[in-house]
Amino acid sequence: MIGIDKMNFFTPNTYIDLVTLANKRGVDPNKFTIGIGQSKMAVPTITQDTVSMGANAAFPILDKEDLETIDLIVVGTETGIDESKSSAAFIHQLLNIHPFAKSVEVKQACYGATAGLMMAKDYIKAHPGRKALVIGSDISRYGLNTSGEVTQGAGAIALLISENPRILALDDTSVAMTESIFDFWRPNYRDTAIVDGKYSNEAYVNFFTTIWEEYKNRTNHSLSDFSAFCFHLPYSKMGRKALLPVLENESEELATKLLKNYDLSTDYTKNIGNIYTGSLYLSLMSLLDHSDNTLKENDLIGFFSYGSGAVGEIFSGRLVPGYENFLMKEEHIAMLDERYDLSIEEYEAIFNKELPKTDGTHPLSEAKYDKSLFYLSSITDHQRHYSQRQ
Ligand code: CAA
Repeated sequence: MIGIDKMNFFTPNTYIDLVTLANKRGVDPNKFTIGIGQSKMAVPTITQDTVSMGANAAFPILDKEDLETIDLIVVGTETGIDESKSSAAFIHQLLNIHPFAKSVEVKQACYGATAGLMMAKDYIKAHPGRKALVIGSDISRYGLNTSGEVTQGAGAIALLISENPRILALDDTSVAMTESIFDFWRPNYRDTAIVDGKYSNEAYVNFFTTIWEEYKNRTNHSLSDFSAFCFHLPYSKMGRKALLPVLENESEELATKLLKNYDLSTDYTKNIGNIYTGSLYLSLMSLLDHSDNTLKENDLIGFFSYGSGAVGEIFSGRLVPGYENFLMKEEHIAMLDERYDLSIEEYEAIFNKELPKTDGTHPLSEAKYDKSLFYLSSITDHQRHYSQRQ
Protein backbone atom coordinates (compact mmCIF):
# COMPACT_ATOMS: atom_id res chain seq x y z
CA MET A 1 0.00 0.00 0.00
CA ILE A 2 1.26 3.45 -0.94
CA GLY A 3 -0.53 6.73 -0.29
CA ILE A 4 -1.00 9.82 1.85
CA ASP A 5 0.61 9.41 5.26
CA LYS A 6 0.23 13.02 6.42
CA MET A 7 -1.26 16.14 4.88
CA ASN A 8 -1.75 19.82 5.60
CA PHE A 9 -2.58 23.10 3.91
CA PHE A 10 -1.58 26.72 4.33
CA THR A 11 -3.29 29.93 3.29
CA PRO A 12 -2.08 33.50 3.90
CA ASN A 13 -3.66 35.22 6.89
CA THR A 14 -5.26 38.05 4.89
CA TYR A 15 -8.55 37.79 2.98
CA ILE A 16 -11.28 39.90 1.41
CA ASP A 17 -14.92 39.20 2.20
CA LEU A 18 -16.77 38.68 -1.08
CA VAL A 19 -19.84 40.67 0.02
CA THR A 20 -17.47 43.64 0.50
CA LEU A 21 -16.03 43.01 -2.97
CA ALA A 22 -19.47 42.63 -4.58
CA ASN A 23 -20.67 45.90 -3.05
CA LYS A 24 -17.59 47.73 -4.32
CA ARG A 25 -17.97 46.26 -7.82
CA GLY A 26 -21.71 47.02 -7.97
CA VAL A 27 -22.62 43.34 -8.23
CA ASP A 28 -25.48 41.61 -6.35
CA PRO A 29 -23.61 39.81 -3.49
CA ASN A 30 -25.79 36.72 -4.14
CA LYS A 31 -24.01 36.28 -7.46
CA PHE A 32 -20.72 35.74 -5.63
CA THR A 33 -22.02 33.90 -2.55
CA ILE A 34 -24.75 31.78 -4.20
CA GLY A 35 -24.13 31.91 -7.96
CA ILE A 36 -20.38 31.27 -7.69
CA GLY A 37 -20.61 29.84 -4.16
CA GLN A 38 -17.70 31.71 -2.57
CA SER A 39 -17.56 33.58 0.78
CA LYS A 40 -13.98 34.78 1.30
CA MET A 41 -10.87 35.03 -0.85
CA ALA A 42 -7.27 34.76 0.35
CA VAL A 43 -5.13 37.75 -0.69
CA PRO A 44 -1.37 37.26 -0.20
CA THR A 45 1.02 40.10 0.60
CA ILE A 46 4.21 40.27 -1.51
CA THR A 47 6.00 38.41 1.30
CA GLN A 48 4.07 35.20 0.51
CA ASP A 49 4.91 33.32 -2.68
CA THR A 50 4.97 29.76 -4.01
CA VAL A 51 8.06 28.90 -1.94
CA SER A 52 7.02 30.38 1.40
CA MET A 53 3.47 29.02 1.16
CA GLY A 54 4.76 25.55 0.24
CA ALA A 55 7.19 25.55 3.18
CA ASN A 56 4.45 26.81 5.51
CA ALA A 57 2.17 23.93 4.43
CA ALA A 58 4.82 21.22 4.80
CA PHE A 59 6.67 22.28 7.96
CA PRO A 60 4.00 21.28 10.55
CA ILE A 61 3.70 17.68 9.29
CA LEU A 62 7.37 16.69 9.06
CA ASP A 63 9.33 15.09 11.89
CA LYS A 64 13.04 14.28 12.12
CA GLU A 65 12.61 10.81 10.63
CA ASP A 66 10.69 12.25 7.64
CA LEU A 67 13.46 14.78 6.98
CA GLU A 68 15.96 11.91 6.81
CA THR A 69 13.75 9.69 4.60
CA ILE A 70 12.28 12.06 1.99
CA ASP A 71 14.16 11.42 -1.27
CA LEU A 72 11.89 13.31 -3.64
CA ILE A 73 10.31 16.77 -3.36
CA VAL A 74 7.91 17.69 -6.16
CA VAL A 75 6.25 21.09 -6.26
CA GLY A 76 3.33 21.44 -8.64
CA THR A 77 2.76 25.10 -9.50
CA GLU A 78 1.67 27.35 -12.33
CA THR A 79 2.88 30.46 -10.48
CA GLY A 80 6.55 29.60 -9.93
CA ILE A 81 9.00 32.35 -8.98
CA ASP A 82 11.88 31.54 -11.31
CA GLU A 83 12.03 30.22 -14.88
CA SER A 84 15.07 28.09 -14.00
CA LYS A 85 15.52 27.30 -10.30
CA SER A 86 12.69 25.20 -8.88
CA SER A 87 10.67 26.25 -5.86
CA ALA A 88 11.33 22.71 -4.59
CA ALA A 89 15.07 23.50 -4.25
CA PHE A 90 14.26 26.51 -2.03
CA ILE A 91 11.77 24.46 0.01
CA HIS A 92 14.26 21.62 0.42
CA GLN A 93 16.58 24.07 2.16
CA LEU A 94 13.93 25.81 4.27
CA LEU A 95 12.66 22.48 5.61
CA ASN A 96 16.16 21.13 6.23
CA ILE A 97 15.67 17.88 4.30
CA HIS A 98 18.79 15.66 3.97
CA PRO A 99 21.09 16.60 1.05
CA PHE A 100 20.73 13.41 -1.05
CA ALA A 101 17.20 14.17 -2.22
CA LYS A 102 15.99 15.34 -5.63
CA SER A 103 13.86 18.47 -5.91
CA VAL A 104 11.81 19.42 -8.97
CA GLU A 105 8.96 21.65 -10.02
CA VAL A 106 6.28 20.42 -12.44
CA LYS A 107 3.75 22.42 -14.42
CA GLN A 108 0.47 21.65 -16.12
CA ALA A 109 -1.89 24.28 -14.74
CA CYS A 110 -3.92 22.93 -11.81
CA TYR A 111 -2.96 19.33 -12.63
CA GLY A 112 0.69 19.78 -11.46
CA ALA A 113 0.30 18.42 -7.91
CA THR A 114 -1.45 15.30 -9.23
CA ALA A 115 1.46 14.70 -11.62
CA GLY A 116 3.68 15.01 -8.54
CA LEU A 117 1.53 12.57 -6.57
CA MET A 118 1.72 9.97 -9.34
CA MET A 119 5.52 10.43 -9.62
CA ALA A 120 5.79 10.05 -5.85
CA LYS A 121 3.72 6.84 -5.86
CA ASP A 122 5.93 5.31 -8.55
CA TYR A 123 9.09 6.41 -6.72
CA ILE A 124 8.00 4.77 -3.45
CA LYS A 125 7.05 1.59 -5.32
CA ALA A 126 10.61 1.42 -6.69
CA HIS A 127 12.21 2.46 -3.37
CA PRO A 128 10.33 0.78 -0.50
CA GLY A 129 10.82 2.42 2.87
CA ARG A 130 11.61 5.87 1.44
CA LYS A 131 9.23 8.88 1.31
CA ALA A 132 8.26 11.70 -1.03
CA LEU A 133 6.93 15.17 -0.35
CA VAL A 134 4.37 16.53 -2.80
CA ILE A 135 3.47 20.22 -2.63
CA GLY A 136 0.94 22.21 -4.65
CA SER A 137 1.39 25.96 -4.20
CA ASP A 138 -0.13 28.83 -6.17
CA ILE A 139 -1.43 32.38 -6.22
CA SER A 140 -4.47 32.73 -8.47
CA ARG A 141 -4.62 36.15 -10.18
CA TYR A 142 -6.94 37.38 -12.90
CA GLY A 143 -6.84 41.10 -12.08
CA LEU A 144 -9.00 43.71 -10.40
CA ASN A 145 -12.37 44.33 -12.02
CA THR A 146 -12.23 41.21 -14.20
CA SER A 147 -14.91 38.50 -14.34
CA GLY A 148 -12.37 36.07 -12.85
CA GLU A 149 -11.62 38.39 -9.90
CA VAL A 150 -14.07 36.61 -7.58
CA THR A 151 -12.38 33.24 -8.30
CA GLN A 152 -8.87 34.25 -7.18
CA GLY A 153 -7.18 32.90 -4.03
CA ALA A 154 -3.85 31.67 -2.67
CA GLY A 155 -2.53 28.71 -0.75
CA ALA A 156 -0.54 25.51 -0.68
CA ILE A 157 -1.01 21.88 0.24
CA ALA A 158 1.60 19.36 1.35
CA LEU A 159 1.26 15.56 1.13
CA LEU A 160 3.74 13.13 2.65
CA ILE A 161 3.68 9.98 0.50
CA SER A 162 4.88 6.68 1.93
CA GLU A 163 4.33 2.95 2.20
CA ASN A 164 1.70 1.88 4.73
CA PRO A 165 0.12 5.35 4.75
CA ARG A 166 -2.02 6.38 7.70
CA ILE A 167 -4.70 8.41 5.85
CA LEU A 168 -5.38 7.22 2.28
CA ALA A 169 -4.09 4.22 0.27
CA LEU A 170 -3.99 5.03 -3.45
CA ASP A 171 -5.32 2.54 -6.02
CA ASP A 172 -3.20 1.72 -9.05
CA THR A 173 -5.98 2.30 -11.57
CA SER A 174 -6.39 5.79 -12.94
CA VAL A 175 -7.33 7.31 -16.28
CA ALA A 176 -5.81 10.54 -17.62
CA MET A 177 -6.64 12.60 -20.70
CA THR A 178 -4.88 15.38 -22.63
CA GLU A 179 -6.22 17.80 -25.21
CA SER A 180 -4.40 21.00 -26.22
CA ILE A 181 -6.97 23.81 -25.80
CA PHE A 182 -7.04 27.47 -24.73
CA ASP A 183 -9.54 27.64 -21.89
CA PHE A 184 -7.17 29.29 -19.42
CA TRP A 185 -3.49 30.16 -19.87
CA ARG A 186 -0.79 32.64 -18.82
CA PRO A 187 2.02 33.67 -21.20
CA ASN A 188 5.42 34.12 -19.47
CA TYR A 189 5.24 37.91 -19.78
CA ARG A 190 1.99 38.20 -17.78
CA ASP A 191 1.33 37.94 -14.05
CA THR A 192 -2.43 37.53 -14.52
CA ALA A 193 -4.12 34.61 -16.26
CA ILE A 194 -6.18 34.88 -19.44
CA VAL A 195 -9.39 32.87 -19.36
CA ASP A 196 -12.32 32.04 -21.59
CA GLY A 197 -14.66 31.65 -18.62
CA LYS A 198 -17.64 29.87 -20.17
CA TYR A 199 -15.44 27.62 -22.32
CA SER A 200 -13.29 26.72 -19.29
CA ASN A 201 -16.42 25.56 -17.44
CA GLU A 202 -17.51 23.47 -20.44
CA ALA A 203 -14.03 21.99 -20.90
CA TYR A 204 -13.91 20.99 -17.21
CA VAL A 205 -17.29 19.20 -17.37
CA ASN A 206 -16.45 17.60 -20.72
CA PHE A 207 -13.15 16.25 -19.37
CA PHE A 208 -14.89 14.79 -16.33
CA THR A 209 -17.66 13.03 -18.25
CA THR A 210 -15.29 11.71 -20.95
CA ILE A 211 -12.71 10.40 -18.48
CA TRP A 212 -15.45 8.96 -16.26
CA GLU A 213 -16.81 6.82 -19.14
CA GLU A 214 -13.30 5.52 -19.88
CA TYR A 215 -12.60 4.99 -16.17
CA LYS A 216 -15.78 2.89 -15.77
CA ASN A 217 -14.83 0.76 -18.80
CA ARG A 218 -11.30 0.14 -17.60
CA THR A 219 -11.98 -0.43 -13.90
CA ASN A 220 -15.50 -1.88 -13.72
CA HIS A 221 -16.16 0.63 -10.96
CA SER A 222 -19.59 2.27 -10.80
CA LEU A 223 -20.54 5.42 -8.92
CA SER A 224 -22.16 3.32 -6.18
CA ASP A 225 -18.70 1.99 -5.19
CA PHE A 226 -17.71 5.47 -4.02
CA SER A 227 -18.47 7.11 -0.68
CA ALA A 228 -17.36 10.54 -1.88
CA PHE A 229 -15.86 12.30 -4.90
CA CYS A 230 -13.37 15.16 -4.53
CA PHE A 231 -12.92 17.69 -7.32
CA HIS A 232 -10.49 20.36 -8.38
CA LEU A 233 -12.46 23.42 -7.23
CA PRO A 234 -11.73 26.75 -8.95
CA TYR A 235 -14.87 27.85 -7.07
CA SER A 236 -17.18 25.79 -4.93
CA LYS A 237 -19.95 25.25 -7.51
CA MET A 238 -17.70 23.94 -10.29
CA GLY A 239 -17.45 20.28 -9.21
CA ARG A 240 -21.21 20.07 -8.71
CA LYS A 241 -21.70 21.01 -12.37
CA ALA A 242 -19.64 17.96 -13.34
CA LEU A 243 -21.18 15.63 -10.75
CA LEU A 244 -24.88 16.35 -11.36
CA PRO A 245 -25.11 14.90 -14.91
CA VAL A 246 -23.56 11.57 -13.88
CA LEU A 247 -25.94 11.32 -10.90
CA GLU A 248 -29.02 11.53 -13.13
CA ASN A 249 -29.46 7.76 -13.47
CA GLU A 250 -28.41 6.89 -9.92
CA SER A 251 -30.64 6.22 -6.88
CA GLU A 252 -31.78 9.14 -4.77
CA GLU A 253 -29.97 7.65 -1.77
CA LEU A 254 -26.62 7.58 -3.61
CA ALA A 255 -27.12 11.05 -5.07
CA THR A 256 -27.94 12.46 -1.62
CA LYS A 257 -24.84 10.85 -0.07
CA LEU A 258 -22.46 12.02 -2.80
CA LEU A 259 -23.88 15.56 -2.86
CA LYS A 260 -23.72 15.81 0.94
CA ASN A 261 -20.08 14.78 0.91
CA TYR A 262 -19.44 17.09 -2.04
CA ASP A 263 -20.73 20.02 0.03
CA LEU A 264 -18.40 19.07 2.90
CA SER A 265 -15.47 19.01 0.47
CA THR A 266 -16.10 22.62 -0.61
CA ASP A 267 -15.96 24.39 2.74
CA TYR A 268 -12.26 25.36 2.68
CA THR A 269 -12.46 26.48 -0.96
CA LYS A 270 -15.45 28.70 -0.16
CA ASN A 271 -13.31 30.47 2.42
CA ILE A 272 -10.00 30.60 0.54
CA GLY A 273 -10.75 30.67 -3.20
CA ASN A 274 -8.89 28.94 -6.00
CA ILE A 275 -5.46 27.67 -4.97
CA TYR A 276 -4.96 26.13 -8.43
CA THR A 277 -2.86 22.96 -8.22
CA GLY A 278 -3.46 22.31 -4.52
CA SER A 279 -7.22 22.73 -4.84
CA LEU A 280 -8.16 19.05 -5.25
CA TYR A 281 -6.25 18.13 -2.09
CA LEU A 282 -7.78 21.07 -0.20
CA SER A 283 -11.14 19.45 -1.08
CA LEU A 284 -9.98 16.15 0.42
CA MET A 285 -8.89 17.89 3.65
CA SER A 286 -12.19 19.79 3.80
CA LEU A 287 -14.15 16.55 3.33
CA LEU A 288 -12.29 14.58 5.98
CA ASP A 289 -12.09 17.46 8.49
CA HIS A 290 -15.86 18.05 8.24
CA SER A 291 -17.26 14.54 7.85
CA ASP A 292 -17.39 13.89 11.64
CA ASN A 293 -16.12 10.37 11.07
CA THR A 294 -19.13 9.37 8.94
CA LEU A 295 -16.59 8.15 6.39
CA LYS A 296 -15.31 4.77 7.50
CA GLU A 297 -12.14 2.75 6.94
CA ASN A 298 -11.91 1.23 3.43
CA ASP A 299 -14.42 3.75 2.06
CA LEU A 300 -13.51 4.51 -1.55
CA ILE A 301 -12.90 8.18 -2.43
CA GLY A 302 -12.81 9.30 -6.07
CA PHE A 303 -10.70 12.22 -7.32
CA PHE A 304 -11.02 14.43 -10.39
CA SER A 305 -7.93 16.46 -11.16
CA TYR A 306 -8.20 19.12 -13.89
CA GLY A 307 -5.52 21.46 -15.23
CA SER A 308 -6.56 23.84 -17.99
CA GLY A 309 -4.83 23.62 -21.27
CA ALA A 310 -5.76 20.74 -20.58
CA VAL A 311 -4.99 17.56 -18.67
CA GLY A 312 -7.43 15.67 -16.44
CA GLU A 313 -7.24 12.48 -14.41
CA ILE A 314 -9.64 10.38 -12.35
CA PHE A 315 -8.11 8.18 -9.66
CA SER A 316 -9.15 6.75 -6.32
CA GLY A 317 -8.01 5.79 -2.85
CA ARG A 318 -9.31 4.00 0.25
CA LEU A 319 -9.42 5.43 3.76
CA VAL A 320 -7.04 3.67 6.11
CA PRO A 321 -8.30 2.43 9.54
CA GLY A 322 -7.70 5.18 12.12
CA TYR A 323 -7.25 7.88 9.44
CA GLU A 324 -9.25 10.35 11.56
CA ASN A 325 -6.42 10.43 14.13
CA PHE A 326 -4.01 11.94 11.61
CA LEU A 327 -6.04 14.91 10.42
CA MET A 328 -5.24 18.51 11.42
CA LYS A 329 -8.79 19.79 11.73
CA GLU A 330 -8.25 22.06 14.75
CA GLU A 331 -5.15 23.67 13.24
CA HIS A 332 -6.97 24.22 9.93
CA ILE A 333 -10.00 25.84 11.54
CA ALA A 334 -7.78 28.02 13.76
CA MET A 335 -5.78 29.13 10.70
CA LEU A 336 -8.93 30.30 8.96
CA ASP A 337 -10.42 31.88 12.10
CA GLU A 338 -7.31 33.93 12.87
CA ARG A 339 -7.10 35.72 9.53
CA TYR A 340 -7.25 39.49 8.94
CA ASP A 341 -10.33 40.84 7.14
CA LEU A 342 -9.01 43.38 4.59
CA SER A 343 -10.88 46.52 3.62
CA ILE A 344 -11.35 47.02 -0.11
CA GLU A 345 -8.64 49.73 -0.09
CA GLU A 346 -6.18 47.38 1.63
CA TYR A 347 -7.05 44.56 -0.80
CA GLU A 348 -6.44 46.71 -3.88
CA ALA A 349 -3.22 48.18 -2.46
CA ILE A 350 -1.86 44.71 -1.62
CA PHE A 351 -2.92 43.38 -5.02
CA ASN A 352 -1.16 46.20 -6.89
CA LYS A 353 2.10 46.03 -4.93
CA GLU A 354 5.01 44.67 -6.99
CA LEU A 355 8.32 43.11 -5.99
CA PRO A 356 11.43 45.20 -6.73
CA LYS A 357 13.05 44.23 -10.03
CA THR A 358 16.32 46.21 -9.83
CA ASP A 359 19.86 45.35 -8.68
CA GLY A 360 20.81 45.89 -5.04
CA THR A 361 19.34 44.89 -1.71
CA HIS A 362 15.62 45.24 -1.05
CA PRO A 363 14.38 44.31 2.43
CA LEU A 364 10.66 43.44 2.44
CA SER A 365 8.30 43.82 5.34
CA GLU A 366 4.55 43.29 5.62
CA ALA A 367 4.61 42.63 9.36
CA LYS A 368 1.21 44.26 9.89
CA TYR A 369 -0.45 41.59 7.74
CA ASP A 370 1.84 38.60 7.29
CA LYS A 371 2.30 36.55 10.48
CA SER A 372 3.37 33.34 8.71
CA LEU A 373 6.26 31.16 9.85
CA PHE A 374 8.16 31.38 6.54
CA TYR A 375 8.11 34.57 4.48
CA LEU A 376 10.04 36.31 1.73
CA SER A 377 12.20 38.77 3.66
CA SER A 378 14.46 40.33 1.01
CA ILE A 379 15.65 40.29 -2.57
CA THR A 380 19.35 40.92 -3.09
CA ASP A 381 20.69 41.18 -6.63
CA HIS A 382 17.64 39.26 -7.90
CA GLN A 383 18.07 36.44 -5.37
CA ARG A 384 15.09 35.71 -3.12
CA HIS A 385 15.82 35.22 0.59
CA TYR A 386 13.36 33.75 3.03
CA SER A 387 13.19 34.01 6.82
CA GLN A 388 11.65 31.85 9.50
CA ARG A 389 9.82 33.81 12.18
CA GLN A 390 11.04 32.97 15.70
N1 CAA B 1 -27.95 35.61 -7.54
C1 CAA B 1 -27.64 34.29 -7.59
N2 CAA B 1 -26.95 33.73 -8.64
C2 CAA B 1 -26.53 34.55 -9.63
C3 CAA B 1 -26.81 35.94 -9.62
C4 CAA B 1 -27.55 36.47 -8.51
N3 CAA B 1 -27.85 37.77 -8.42
N4 CAA B 1 -26.27 36.48 -10.72
C5 CAA B 1 -25.65 35.47 -11.40
N5 CAA B 1 -25.82 34.31 -10.75
C6 CAA B 1 -25.32 32.99 -11.11
C7 CAA B 1 -25.44 32.67 -12.58
O1 CAA B 1 -26.72 32.20 -12.91
C8 CAA B 1 -24.35 31.63 -12.74
O2 CAA B 1 -24.84 30.39 -12.26
P1 CAA B 1 -24.57 29.05 -13.10
O3 CAA B 1 -23.07 28.94 -13.26
O4 CAA B 1 -25.15 27.98 -12.24
O5 CAA B 1 -25.24 29.23 -14.41
C9 CAA B 1 -23.27 32.09 -11.77
O6 CAA B 1 -23.92 32.99 -10.86
C10 CAA B 1 -22.12 32.81 -12.44
O7 CAA B 1 -22.66 33.81 -13.24
P2 CAA B 1 -22.02 34.17 -14.66
O8 CAA B 1 -21.77 32.90 -15.44
O9 CAA B 1 -22.84 35.22 -15.29
O10 CAA B 1 -20.63 34.76 -14.13
P3 CAA B 1 -19.44 35.37 -14.94
O11 CAA B 1 -19.73 35.55 -16.38
O12 CAA B 1 -19.06 36.58 -14.16
O13 CAA B 1 -18.26 34.26 -14.85
C11 CAA B 1 -16.79 32.54 -14.15
C12 CAA B 1 -18.12 33.25 -13.87
C13 CAA B 1 -16.82 31.94 -15.55
C14 CAA B 1 -16.60 31.43 -13.14
C15 CAA B 1 -15.64 33.59 -14.02
O14 CAA B 1 -15.56 34.02 -12.70
C16 CAA B 1 -14.30 33.06 -14.48
O15 CAA B 1 -13.95 33.13 -15.65
N6 CAA B 1 -13.46 32.49 -13.53
C17 CAA B 1 -12.16 31.95 -13.85
C18 CAA B 1 -12.20 30.68 -14.69
C19 CAA B 1 -12.63 29.46 -13.92
O16 CAA B 1 -12.59 29.38 -12.72
N7 CAA B 1 -13.05 28.42 -14.67
C20 CAA B 1 -13.42 27.17 -14.09
C21 CAA B 1 -13.09 25.98 -14.97
S1 CAA B 1 -11.36 26.02 -15.46
C22 CAA B 1 -10.50 25.32 -14.17
O17 CAA B 1 -11.06 24.66 -13.35
C23 CAA B 1 -9.03 25.60 -14.07
C24 CAA B 1 -8.80 26.68 -13.11
O18 CAA B 1 -8.59 26.45 -11.94
C25 CAA B 1 -8.86 28.08 -13.60
